[in-house]
Amino acid sequence: MAGATGYTGRAVVGELCRRQVEVVAHVRPDSKEIGRWTRELDEIGAAVDSSPWDEEAMADTLAAVAPSHVFSLLGTTRARARAARSETDGVPTYDSIDYRLTALLINAACSIHPPPRFIYLSATGVSSSRPRNPYYLARWKAERDLVDSGLRAVIARPGLIAGGDREESRPMEQVAALLGDRALAMAGRLGARGLRDRYLSFTADELAWALVSLALSDKGGACEGEVLRRYARGSDRR
Ligand SMILES: NC(=O)c1ccc[n+]([C@@H]2O[C@H](COP(=O)([O-])OP(=O)(O)OC[C@H]3O[C@@H](n4cnc5c(N)ncnc54)[C@H](OP(=O)(O)O)[C@@H]3O)[C@@H](O)[C@H]2O)c1
Repeated sequence: MAGATGYTGRAVVGELCRRQVEVVAHVRPDSKEIGRWTRELDEIGAAVDSSPWDEEAMADTLAAVAPSHVFSLLGTTRARARAARSETDGVPTYDSIDYRLTALLINAACSIHPPPRFIYLSATGVSSSRPRNPYYLARWKAERDLVDSGLRAVIARPGLIAGGDREESRPMEQVAALLGDRALAMAGRLGARGLRDRYLSFTADELAWALVSLALSDKGGACEGEVLRRYARGSDRR
């Protein structure tokens, strides 16, 4: 699983382990917290791999692990890009991380037999037309590569992923989720249930439940918020 150290990724690792699924969690080799992640992921019950983000190395790792499923749950943020300006490794962008690392993983997945099912965490708002916004463009390109790859895939398109248990402070995201969810709950009461179910935010645990359930089901293709919500535990709480 790529992105195993993220808010969603850790919840998905936990959910898979709870369901007795063997998990190999990828931690990037240049992570400043590799010791912490190795310890924590090991405690949850996952094996940790830190192959470099290189297509050949990743293909070798997948060939050795022979996974039934590959999860791509990674992406950068504007804040991370700003923070990295002072570092030497180059500034991460939506194209270099959200698109290129996912594309590399798709290619690596295509190189093994039998090919794994691929679970890609995209975002609401991605559609068939090419967007101009760099965030959506990266996701649109990754989705297109995945469809073109012929892999059996789930493309998850949730709205905001926000919860009080997110370790990283993202006050704007929290406020947007809170206000948005209130407005959507009201819209739902007035009859716009489709709108509400598509855009209500998810906590990592809710989304993890949906992603794992979808991964282990026969359902494939693009899944908007309302579909994810049907597969999410706790969706009836709102
Ligand atoms: N947040 C939202 O509201 C939202 C909504 C819809 C879709 N999404 C998308 O869903 C995905 C997961 O969201 P999240 O909130 O769980 O993300 P997150 O907590 O920010 O985690 C991001 C993951 O990507 C990895 N990553 C970031 N930069 C990297 C780099 N330079 N090289 C290798 N790995 C890198 C991180 O690894 P490290 O820990 O090593 O940095 C981490 O595992 C993101 O792509 C996001 O765009 C988010």
